[in-house]
Amino acid sequence: MKEEYLCKTPKDMEALGAKFGKQAEKGTVISLRGSLGAGKTVFARGLARALGINESIVSPTFTLIQEYDGTLKMYHMDLYRLSCEEDFMALGGEDFLYSDGICLIEWSEIIDEMLPKGTIFVNIKINDDQSRVVEVTDERSRS
Ligand SMILES: Nc1ncnc2c1ncn2[C@@H]1O[C@H](COP(=O)(O)OP(=O)(O)O)[C@@H](O)[C@H]1O
Ligand SMILES: [Mg+2]
Repeated sequence: MKEEYLCKTPKDMEALGAKFGKQAEKGTVISLRGSLGAGKTVFARGLARALGINESIVSPTFTLIQEYDGTLKMYHMDLYRLSCEEDFMALGGEDFLYSDGICLIEWSEIIDEMLPKGTIFVNIKINDDQSRVVEVTDERSRS
């Protein structure tokens, strides 16, 4: 399934993240795509809020993985600085892909091969007027 959303403001993006947070089930993996500053972390923040997580949500660029406790656990990753799959394995990253919580991954391209079958792809593009087009692809319905 493929859906497209228009987010005119960061608030819209948070609301979209929250929508996915409300629907999310244990084991959901969401790959957040888009250039630097596209709004991946804003989406993650909205999703966190829907899970009742009130901590500040920032890209875990240096820690790679940040864990939060909400109505479900949320694992937020930013793999921008990761150089290979092996490093991801060494970090125990695979456990987060098959977890009892929700796993959000920014810059997941480096572990594309490892992403579970049901991964949801959220692709964000920046328009000239700074609004964002968000294309959501749900792998589960891909042939
Ligand atoms: N329509 C919009 N949707 C999301 N973010 C927006 C929008 N317009 C402006 N922004 C701004 O763009 C930035 C996105 O940052 P961030 O989510 O950290 O990006 P990323 O994690 O993709 O690198 C934020 O400062 C946010 O306020
Ligand atoms: Mg980010």
